Formats: sequence, structure tokens, C-alpha cells
Amino acid sequence: GGARGGRSGLATAAAKASATASRGVLRTPGFSTKKLVIVMVGLPARGKTHMARCLERYLNWLGFTARVFNVGEYRRKFLGATQPAAFFDPSNPEGARARWELALECLRDMTNWLEEGGLVGIYDATNSTRDRREVVRTRLEADGVRVLFLESICDDAAIVEKNILETKARSPDYRFVDAEAAVADFKKRIANYCVGNETVLDEEQCSYIKIINVGSKIILNGITGYVQGKIVSYLANAHIMPRAIYLSRHGESEWNVTGQLGGDPNLTPRGRRYAHALNAFIMAETKKYAAAQPRGADEASDDDEDDSRSVEAALPLVWTSQLRRTRQTVAHIPTINMCWRALNEIDAGVCEGLTYASVAETMPDVAAARKADKLRYRYPGGESYVDVLTRLEPVILELERQRGPVLIVAHNAVIRGIYAYLMNKSQSGCPSIDIPLHTVFKLTTRAYGAEEERFPLDVEATYNNRTPDSDNADEAQEGGEAVDGAEALAPAAAPAAPAQDGKVLSTV
Ligand code: F6P
Repeated sequence: GGARGGRSGLATAAAKASATASRGVLRTPGFSTKKLVIVMVGLPARGKTHMARCLERYLNWLGFTARVFNVGEYRRKFLGATQPAAFFDPSNPEGARARWELALECLRDMTNWLEEGGLVGIYDATNSTRDRREVVRTRLEADGVRVLFLESICDDAAIVEKNILETKARSPDYRFVDAEAAVADFKKRIANYCVGNETVLDEEQCSYIKIINVGSKIILNGITGYVQGKIVSYLANAHIMPRAIYLSRHGESEWNVTGQLGGDPNLTPRGRRYAHALNAFIMAETKKYAAAQPRGADEASDDDEDDSRSVEAALPLVWTSQLRRTRQTVAHIPTINMCWRALNEIDAGVCEGLTYASVAETMPDVAAARKADKLRYRYPGGESYVDVLTRLEPVILELERQRGPVLIVAHNAVIRGIYAYLMNKSQSGCPSIDIPLHTVFKLTTRAYGAEEERFPLDVEATYNNRTPDSDNADEAQEGGEAVDGAEALAPAAAPAAPAQDGKVLSTV
């Protein structure tokens, strides 16, 4: 379809008036071509807010300042959360006016935010009529902002029903209403929006993405530019199924003890004990997960062997770096692992193999420059955190694509990067996130962000190459200090031989 052809005369009087009245505040030099607004489109309970928040998290992680502006939040803030379905009836002029004013207020705030430096605004509302979209688009374009409509269409009643039950019944709109009444009222609200609901048409002269039935079909129109391309590939991979992602650093390595950076050292005996403890932990988690999976009647069995087969089938995917210490850490988990080069530790370049103390002594300029801007500082001959985040992007997309649990065993800087993505932390905070050794992070992805649980396994670790930054000074685990776990999952004795590493699926 032809986006951005000549104006078709669709603009309503309101749109023209608002465009004329535009303050032109965003027409500052160098500004107009860069700013983007994603205008969400779709009936209630189509997963728009979930998509909006996921995109916000992903774009921020990539370093594009993004923010969701949710019109529903404005309604709750200014009018209270308890508006009944009748408020959303299009034949109720007061309701319609109030909703429109709030939508404009939200739009103005978004425009101001863009003017102050934001890069991608995500305008989260139903925007389900053509007139309304025309006003929004015209206003934004008059301010020199690119507009991308992102429409979620879902005609699968089962998906809609599930979405209503899962998210809406817990919405702040229905906090004081019992679940059944909330669902009934919400369905009436949806019916009100169905009146006059119009899908985005090519004649609207815009770029758009249509996500149909939670991604079973995607339609693209007029997609241009780097950020829009990123958005498309993200949406093509992401899904909304909750599942667990386990993150861990490798077990204690020889260089954790000597305090050296990088390299490809082996695990120490304590690191190998952690490998056993990690296996015991993952097996216990998998048993719980397998027991919670629905089973067909023909699969029901009292047979232990069958049970252990179903546990094996339910094991997480295991991803490691290509370095020995991560591969040795997963060696006892009875499944093949995938080794990613992208999961290798930050390359410390000329500082590989040195301790922080010797870097400070022999290359004080390197130590000082890194301290001044740890996110962007690139080790001579090595990498910066931004470099690491950039190479992690395919891992993130693959993680989004997976539907079952995944265990990632990698390194300090790398786990920080993945954790920052999943927990919606800013890029700037990423290099100082504390990821202790011998601890499993279980992050369960949910509609509105991930839930975090931490499991320090009961194996001591020495960590003499801990970052000396004042950034990290408040954390519990100081240099060389032993870590005590809470749960006794480790076997009593360290295994005599180093963990074997003979089950690699592929190397990416
Ligand atoms: O200390 C272990 C380690 O994985 C090093 O190999 C790596 O250089 C370092 O952590 C990364 O942490 P930071 O970025 O805080 O120096």
C-alpha cells in the first residue's frame, strides 16, 4: 500500500485546526527526522498496553529513549478509576468529550517530552476511529514527528477472553469491583468501542504495522528507517506467554580467585561444586514446571520412567558462552547446550589477564577513563558495555522467540546486559548492576514486566576480581569475601574430576 502519498482530504476540521494551531515546537534543527511516535490502535483487551511496554523496554535497552503515554492513566488520574461502561458509550457526549480532552492532554505531554529529548513516544490508547487517528497524526506530523500506527487486531474470541480475565479483571479500573462484575462491565466497554471501530486503511497515508491474532499474521505498510525496522523484527519475535528465564554467572573460576580479568580459565573445585548445585536446582525447578504442565489423558501414568522422561522434556534450553567456565558450569545438566559467542565476557583488550589493581597502577588513564564513563568506555583493543549490549541483541530476540524456560550461564557484564533488558533497567545503570557469583536469578516474564527471584546456592565463592567502582560499593559481596547460600542443594563433597564438556549442540 502506498503510505505517504498526497493528502486525501480525510483530515477533519478538527485536525486542520489543530495542525494550524501547532506551536511548531518540534521543528528545531536536526530534530524532525529523528523523532517517532508509535500510535497504538485497537479495541480494548487486544494486548496493546503489553506491546507498548515491551517496545518501550526494548527500545530503551537499545539506547533509544522511549516512553509510553497511556491515555487510560490520564483518565484514572483526572476522573478516577471507577468510570462505568456507560462513560465509554459513543452516544454519551459528556463521556466522549472528557475522553477526547484527556487524549489531547496526554498527546501534549508526549509532545513536550519529545521536545525535551525523548526519541520514541508510544501513544497508548484505542485510537480506534479514523477521525481520531487523523487528528493525532496531523498534529504530530505538523510538529515534524514521524508517525507509525501499530494496530492489534484479534478476532479469536478465546484469546480476547483470556486477555480480559488475565489483565483487565486485575486492572486498577476494577479494583473495588468483584471479578465477575468487572468482566461483565469490561465486555460492555468493549462493545461500546466496537461501534465505529475502524481498522487502519492505506488511505490514511501512514506507515503501519498490523499484528493479527497475537502475531499469527503481521501486515506491514510503508516501514522506513532503522528504528522502525527494529520494531518490526522485535514484534515478529516477541510473544506474551509467561515463562521462566534463569540467569547465572559461571561457577568460581581460577581467575576469580587470582583476581584477573577475562581469559578462558577453568572452574575451581568450588566452581565445580556450583555446577552440581546448579544442576540440582534446575532439576528441582523442572520437576515443578513439568508437574504444572497440562497432560493428555493418554499421557497420565504412574510410571517413574515416564515421569523422568517428561521432566527431561521439560528441561530449559541451556545457553552458555563459548568459554570453558560457562560450559563447565552446565556440564551436569542432562541436556545439550548452545554456545553463543555473543555471550562471551566483555573483551578487556589490553587489560585481559590483569587485575584491577595492576590496571590502576600501570594504566591509570585507562582506569580513570573507564570509571568516568563505564558504559561507553571501550578498552583499548577490546569492548565497551555498549559494544556488549549491541552484540547481545540477537540473543534477546531469540530469547523473546522462545516459549519455554531458558537457562543462560554467562559472565558478569553479559548477565548484567540481559538482566537490564528483562528488568527494564536503563543502559546507564547496566554496568553497575550487582550479579553475585553462585546465585541463580529466576525472572518470570509477565504481561507487565518480569518478576524476580534470587536463589543463592549454598556454595562459597571467592571473588577477587570484583569491580572496584564506588558504584558497586554498597553491594553485599566485597572482594574476596565468601558467599554463603541459603539452601543446601550442593553435594557434600566436591567432585574429584573437572566437569566434562562433551554435549554442545552448536556454536553460534
Ligand atoms: O571479574 C570478572 C569479570 O567477568 C571480568 O572478566 C570482566 O572484565 C569483569 O568481570 C566485568 O566487570 P566490570 O565491567 O565491572 O569490570
